[in-house]
Amino acid sequence: ENEINLRPKFLDEYIGQTAAKEKMSIFIEAARKRNESLDHVLLYGPPGLGKTTLANIIANELGSNIRVTSGPAIEKPGDLAAILTNLNNNDVLFIDEIHRLNRSVEEILYPAMEDYAIDIIIGKGPSARSIRLDIPSFTLIGATTRAGMLSAPLRDRFGVICRLDYYNNEELYEIVYRSAKLLRIHIEEDGAEEIARRSRGTPRIANRLLKRVRDFAQVKADGKITRDVADEALKLLEVDHIGLDNIDRKMLLTIINKFGGGPVGLDTLAASIGEESNTIEDVYEPYLLQIGFLNRTPRGRMVTHLVYKHFNIAE
Ligand code: ADE
Repeated sequence: ENEINLRPKFLDEYIGQTAAKEKMSIFIEAARKRNESLDHVLLYGPPGLGKTTLANIIANELGSNIRVTSGPAIEKPGDLAAILTNLNNNDVLFIDEIHRLNRSVEEILYPAMEDYAIDIIIGKGPSARSIRLDIPSFTLIGATTRAGMLSAPLRDRFGVICRLDYYNNEELYEIVYRSAKLLRIHIEEDGAEEIARRSRGTPRIANRLLKRVRDFAQVKADGKITRDVADEALKLLEVDHIGLDNIDRKMLLTIINKFGGGPVGLDTLAASIGEESNTIEDVYEPYLLQIGFLNRTPRGRMVTHLVYKHFNIAE
């Protein structure tokens, strides 16, 4: 049952992200009609919103093969050159966490993206020379949680830049319902609604909570996910009624209790709750900003009135 793939394969099964879907379907169809490779695509947005899923769908809709790698996995320019020279015409190369490519590797990408060519240095010292090698035409799909961390020359070489946003509760409900069907989980509408509401706008979290609530339903109930079963299971998982988890709570309560509600610098906050600054910035903070629980000021992070209300704390 773990083999069941919840990821949609086609654009029309992909729920939400309407703007991204609409424009991608046009660009895909145009590239197909011209029998050309699709222009390079940058997907950015918080983790868990379906960037990898969308990259796979794009390749599938193009009828192309996809080669998947990530920024940190490509250590040397030669590693990337090897990947590029092994592609077939109109293939998709997906580089996750593309902001983490090192500089020397990134420089291989510029002529590859622009001219479908790589420049190879032969020899050393005064007799060294560069030869240009053609590679197949291809589509680079880059994914990043932070478009701002890409270098300008790299960012400028993407013809399509696509931002993924948090999903609303109706979209998450559809995702939970669809996943439950694929996993053959018996779920009531109210149960799916409860999971959707507590998934922080994020399909990856929705699917994870669905599986854990199913465990609970099978052990503690008759296997059916009702609203009460979902509620009890999520209580056990320490996910509160708006979807905040232990780390969200620790972060918000630390700002209130140790820093008078803020402002507090990111690194100071990270050290005092024992998390990495990057994790806070990429994973926790974006949702809290989105729901208006957190503000970023030049002097650091501040909680808003909503947080005092949520925790029932007097200001
Ligand atoms: N799983 C992850 N993201 C999804 C989406 N947008 N639609 C359907 N299933 C998904």
